[in-house]
Amino acid sequence: MSEPVRIGVLGAGSIGIRGALAHLSIGDYADRVTLAAVCDAVPGRAAAAAEKYGVPQSFEDFDSMLRLGDIDAVTIGTPIGLHYEQGVQAIEAGKHIHFNKTMTTTIADADDLIERAAARGVHLVVSPGQMHRPHLRRIRRMVEDGSLGRLVWAATGAGFGVYHEKEGVRQGNDILSNINPAWYWRKPGGGPVYDMTVYGLHALTGVLGPVRRVTAVSGTVVKQREFRGELFDCDCDDNTLILVDFGGALFGFVYGTAAGNVVHSFGSPSFFGTAGSIVGETLNGQPFDYPGRERAAVDGMNAILPHYNERHSTEEFHVFEDIMQLVELVRDGKPTVSTAEHARHVIEIIEAAYLAAETGQTQELRTTFTPAPGA
Ligand SMILES: NC(=O)c1ccc[n+]([C@@H]2O[C@H](COP(=O)([O-])OP(=O)(O)OC[C@H]3O[C@@H](n4cnc5c(N)ncnc54)[C@H](O)[C@@H]3O)[C@@H](O)[C@H]2O)c1
Repeated sequence: MSEPVRIGVLGAGSIGIRGALAHLSIGDYADRVTLAAVCDAVPGRAAAAAEKYGVPQSFEDFDSMLRLGDIDAVTIGTPIGLHYEQGVQAIEAGKHIHFNKTMTTTIADADDLIERAAARGVHLVVSPGQMHRPHLRRIRRMVEDGSLGRLVWAATGAGFGVYHEKEGVRQGNDILSNINPAWYWRKPGGGPVYDMTVYGLHALTGVLGPVRRVTAVSGTVVKQREFRGELFDCDCDDNTLILVDFGGALFGFVYGTAAGNVVHSFGSPSFFGTAGSIVGETLNGQPFDYPGRERAAVDGMNAILPHYNERHSTEEFHVFEDIMQLVELVRDGKPTVSTAEHARHVIEIIEAAYLAAETGQTQELRTTFTPAPGA
């Protein structure tokens, strides 16, 4: 493909604005990608976004964008519970897709999307592309070269807190800044595991490889949440503790909770071996080296992703990075680590965890993926 990939943004909410529109509208990659259309179901939101970000076309329903939009690909930034159905629509319309996490909520749906995409000849790229991060690739190299001795266990996870009700983009009074986050607290697709733990799961499995077995306990602690003075019922699990078995007596502890954290950051697991421990970006308490470390210390981890330059804010830049991974896959056939197969494996872990919690039975996993080598 020699022309730029024409992108349609589905969902002009928090991530549609901060992860897609704000970055794509800069136009510094205009030879490779153009912002062609935007769609949102809230009346007036897509039109307002089109005006603010200079997008040629706007739509209020996805079907219209797929039929009438001058687009080659979509970036899906809607609530997680809608991703599967919208993914099917896009594939059947012959559009390449970038999915925000999480691609689906079930392994069956993930299988179906992967099969349909292959049959239709369209590409899928799935966030979060944690393994684009140089420090995680370096950790994988340390695991591969034995720097940690025999690996024993690892930990990752995230506490929900009140992140979504307090996001700055939701506190205004116009249609682009009063975005209700209540779906984050409802099934299907709500809760801290699909939303936040998914980063740590991509990093954990990206470093250690696929999981074989899963068990868990899970429940709901917070039954109502408040957003701008209104109360919303919550039925998603918000307190989930998961144990994963990589084989060879290597285990992982994974959590997605209403509150509380035991790891350095939710995208960077801790790894413990007989000869060393990694916590955050330290090995045995000392910072370890990786490409871009000095810059990351000043500007943050997003500033050392492959497509970053100073014209962009670092805010949600990892989402734009994954969109650019799709662009390069479509245009040049360049492989990416943000694969649907890796995402499917993580989705299987999550689904298996909920099933294990419900049944009391440890679950054997069936999917796998090929991790990127250490670097
Ligand atoms: N908020 C974050 O910090 C963040 C960060 C990274 C990734 N994500 C991911 O981005 C995705 C969206 O999250 P968000 O926080 O932007 O949600 P959001 O609620 O802020 O925005 C979702 C938007 O989708 C629109 N929408 C809902 N149903 C639709 C439909 N059928 N057709 C068209 N538009 C529809 C809504 O009107 C809303 O504007 C999720 O996958 C989430 O995991 C969010």
